[in-house]
Amino acid sequence: MRDTGTAVPQGEFAPSPPRRVGDSTAPILAFERVSKAYGAVVALSGVDFSVHRGEVVCLIGPSGSGKSTLLRCANALETIDGGRVRFDGVDLQDGATDVRQLRRRMGMVFQNFELFPHLSVLRNVAIGPMTVLAAPRAVAEREALELLRKVGLVDKASVYPAALSGGQQQRVAIARALAMQPDVMLFDEPTSALDPETIGEVLSVMKRLADEGMTMVVVTHEMDFAKRVANWVVVFDRGTVIEQGPPQQIFSNPQVARTREFLSHLGWHGESLATADPLVVKQRM
Ligand SMILES: Nc1ncnc2c1ncn2[C@@H]1O[C@H](COP(=O)(O)OP(=O)(O)OP(=O)(O)O)[C@@H](O)[C@H]1O
Ligand SMILES: [Mg+2]
Repeated sequence: MRDTGTAVPQGEFAPSPPRRVGDSTAPILAFERVSKAYGAVVALSGVDFSVHRGEVVCLIGPSGSGKSTLLRCANALETIDGGRVRFDGVDLQDGATDVRQLRRRMGMVFQNFELFPHLSVLRNVAIGPMTVLAAPRAVAEREALELLRKVGLVDKASVYPAALSGGQQQRVAIARALAMQPDVMLFDEPTSALDPETIGEVLSVMKRLADEGMTMVVVTHEMDFAKRVANWVVVFDRGTVIEQGPPQQIFSNPQVARTREFLSHLGWHGESLATADPLVVKQRM
């Protein structure tokens, strides 16, 4: 039945919000008016967005706009000054919340992979389940091998991280995060410290994870990746979300002038930036 009591704007362009993956269920991660300052520096101000199960949400925006801070607030590595962060419906700010327990359900992949240099690749992946989840070594190592196969590095299981390229180390870091069987993977510029020739192999692994339905929040400057893999893109500027929407909107028809400026500053004019297709890089599996 129509609600005749509600004024419908006439002559205004009022599109219904685009449907999102998993939007019929409660979000796995929700940011509600999140604010955070470091002294006089406002890192986040009134940030509102959510992540649904199965979505790939890319966070883009200029340097210093608050993307990394937001990710750290997502898994309570950082406290917030105002608002709320909920993970699977649980308020991270509630004193009764077991934050360490929730954090285990979020895999984090940083720019600098931070593998244990004194452990083999296999042990790097198996160590989390063994120490945190009390998995028997044989089980943890069998699963670690499976994950290394998934990221194309099963033949490197017995070597040490120093013997690997940056792209290979980052793929081990992804396998290590996956070993904890997280509900969500958080990536903070996972390719920005890599040589150009190894970026594609990491993006390929991430694309495959997305195709398998992993929920992912990805801070990235790889606009090709965001355009082609994200279900939802959130644009940050000076600590606020200036625009969010499906990638078609953000990259082809941005609604906010500042989004257009940011993208054109990167050289993005609606076309692929890549000379080669980084998402179809063939890997030895
Ligand atoms: N630990 C900290 N102490 C003080 N200021 C901080 C700290 N972390 C971040 N900031 C400030 O907060 C703001 C947001 O920083 P943040 O690292 O979240 O930006 P970003 O969008 O991730 O940038 P980049 O793309 O360069 O990684 C910046 O002004 C930054 O200088
Ligand atoms: Mg950052």
